[in-house]
Amino acid sequence: MLEGTKINSPSQMASVFDIAKDTVLFLVLSCYYILESLFWTLVPNAIRPMKSLKGDVVLVTGGGGGVGRQLAVKLARLGAKVVVWDISKEGLQKTCAAVIDEGYEIASYVVDLADRSAVYAAAEKVKKEVGKVDVLINNAGTVFGETLLDLSDSAIETTYKVNILSHYWTVKAFLPDMISSGKGHIVTVGSVAGLLGTYRCTDYSATKFATVGFHESLFTELRAHGHTTIHATLVCPYYINTGMFDGVTPRLMPMLEPDYVAETMIDSIRKNEVNCIMPGSVRYLLPLKCLLPAKMCWDLMHRVMKGPQSMMEFKGKPKAVAS
Ligand SMILES: NC(=O)c1ccc[n+]([C@@H]2O[C@H](COP(=O)([O-])OP(=O)(O)OC[C@H]3O[C@@H](n4cnc5c(N)ncnc54)[C@H](O)[C@@H]3O)[C@@H](O)[C@H]2O)c1
Repeated sequence: MLEGTKINSPSQMASVFDIAKDTVLFLVLSCYYILESLFWTLVPNAIRPMKSLKGDVVLVTGGGGGVGRQLAVKLARLGAKVVVWDISKEGLQKTCAAVIDEGYEIASYVVDLADRSAVYAAAEKVKKEVGKVDVLINNAGTVFGETLLDLSDSAIETTYKVNILSHYWTVKAFLPDMISSGKGHIVTVGSVAGLLGTYRCTDYSATKFATVGFHESLFTELRAHGHTTIHATLVCPYYINTGMFDGVTPRLMPMLEPDYVAETMIDSIRKNEVNCIMPGSVRYLLPLKCLLPAKMCWDLMHRVMKGPQSMMEFKGKPKAVAS
């Protein structure tokens, strides 16, 4: 009822005036933000100013293979002091060889991200031996590719420990130094499977959805406390041809190449982007899941995209164990 909201006291008048003022300011700024975003979308990377990573300590988890190895090589070429963590000693050796072959230095640490105390211990070692971490890329991930009733309890726990819980330990270890130096960047690697539930991925998709919430909440906390020079980027790629989802043959879009994913991720970090969804076209499809009837979404997924059918062919790859 309008009567119930009658404006009759000066303090209420003031608060209505404040809301109106903030809303007008928001609308004016929104026009600027949209124009700015359009402008930067149209400017090619080659001519736009990008953050330099030269001399920065960049830590890549899961740097012993797949996208992590590509990131290590490309970051070293940009002059970053690269640190890689992985559970696989052999994987780390290959990454180090690839970086050293090009004439750059790299530091590597065997770490099981599923082990909280091992993560904290490795973080202390990095701080002592290499220095303050400027960019943290939480890239490591694991997938079992089983339906819920076939997933063992320990597989579910491992997926949670590696894909999301480890992000808490690494960020708690490195963020305080970023805040005290006023410089830092936290990169959270999620997945398109963290934006859209996927067959045989009740554990994987759920942890990747959690990365989205983790990133968005962390971003909010950083901004709310005025840490505007600490950046946060969420990376959500579609299937990547690294073997993680071996056997899967998506129907409409081929898998992305790890080289392209690493390159796009680094560009996104250098532009201080908040979100990086690959390929970009997926951004326009996602709202459909909230807008279309659920039956239509399922039919699109099952009949046209054949998502569940392609995940039925999942083989994956052997898992490295802690050595
Ligand atoms: N491959 C895809 O299709 C795909 C799609 C979307 C998102 N992603 C995500 O991208 C990231 C990189 O994936 P990728 O394709 O390079 O995978 P990958 O399997 O090739 O590499 C992941 C790395 O993480 C390491 N790792 C796994 N468990 C670990 C643990 N307990 N401790 C330390 N290291 C551990 C592995 O040894 C491996 O080197 C992951 O977060 C993944 O979930 C992958």
